[in-house]
Amino acid sequence: MAMLEVRDLRKSFYTYAKPGLQAGIFHKPGARKVVSQLDVLKGVDLTVNKGDVVAILGPSGSGKTTFLRCLNFLETTDSGTLIFDGEQFDLGKITKADIARLRKKTAFVFQNYNLFRNKTALQNVTEGLVIARKMPKAQADAIGMKMLEKVGLAYPRQLSGGQQQRVAIARALATDPEILYFDEPTSALDPELTGEVLAVMRQLAEEGMTMLVVTHEMGFARGVSSKTVFMENGVVVEASPSQEFFAHPKKERTREFLRKIEHTN
Ligand SMILES: Nc1ncnc2c1ncn2[C@@H]1O[C@H](COP(=O)(O)OP(=O)(O)O)[C@@H](O)[C@H]1O
Ligand SMILES: [Mg+2]
Repeated sequence: MAMLEVRDLRKSFYTYAKPGLQAGIFHKPGARKVVSQLDVLKGVDLTVNKGDVVAILGPSGSGKTTFLRCLNFLETTDSGTLIFDGEQFDLGKITKADIARLRKKTAFVFQNYNLFRNKTALQNVTEGLVIARKMPKAQADAIGMKMLEKVGLAYPRQLSGGQQQRVAIARALATDPEILYFDEPTSALDPELTGEVLAVMRQLAEEGMTMLVVTHEMGFARGVSSKTVFMENGVVVEASPSQEFFAHPKKERTREFLRKIEHTN
């Protein structure tokens, strides 16, 4: 059974006229009139099994970030089905209670780390446990230290970008998620710092962590991920086991994308 299954996920962004300004014959005052609509996700399907490391590739603007944000409820979804651990949800009308419950099973690592700069590494890692999960501080600190150690950062002081991202990974791990989402975790880093973050991700993969990783790191997609997905214009163009994906891409568009990206990597 799949751990996570997504069917026909759709999301558009709308621009609304300011209430009142365009109110007239068609709109009662305060009603919101849509002035433009951008269809970003046009029916995305994805299956993730326990222990899968899924790499999501695709050109900028194809909807990769929006997709991850929808999956983690950082963004509302217009329609689609989510099946998590066998439980099915209609994403168009999912309740707050279900969102809160599902969020506990997932964690997110952002491109720009999203750490609190005025807090220590340990405080960043334990914040969610203490505030959101009401865990006693001592217990949260113990978990926090363990997770910082896991990413190779027992006593960080001045943090490089690579170290900040590793703190962010420790923070994500501290909540003991079933699946970790990464949105281009190394793309804000200098090349020499990318390796230390990828090494931590590779280690997590070897330990069997389930991960969904938007990335441009072809080495990671080829060498670490078990499945690769190529997204463009809000749809999945091609998805297959990574070995097969790179050895025998089926779509001409995938081959073209790989030729270009491998040329610049
Ligand atoms: N909050 C938003 N409001 C309006 N448009 C957005 C918003 N977020 C993303 N978009 C648009 O959605 C499209 C996909 O963006 P994104 O998901 O960031 O793509 P990717 O991560 O693949 O580069 C882009 O055209 C982007 O401008
Ligand atoms: Mg993005």
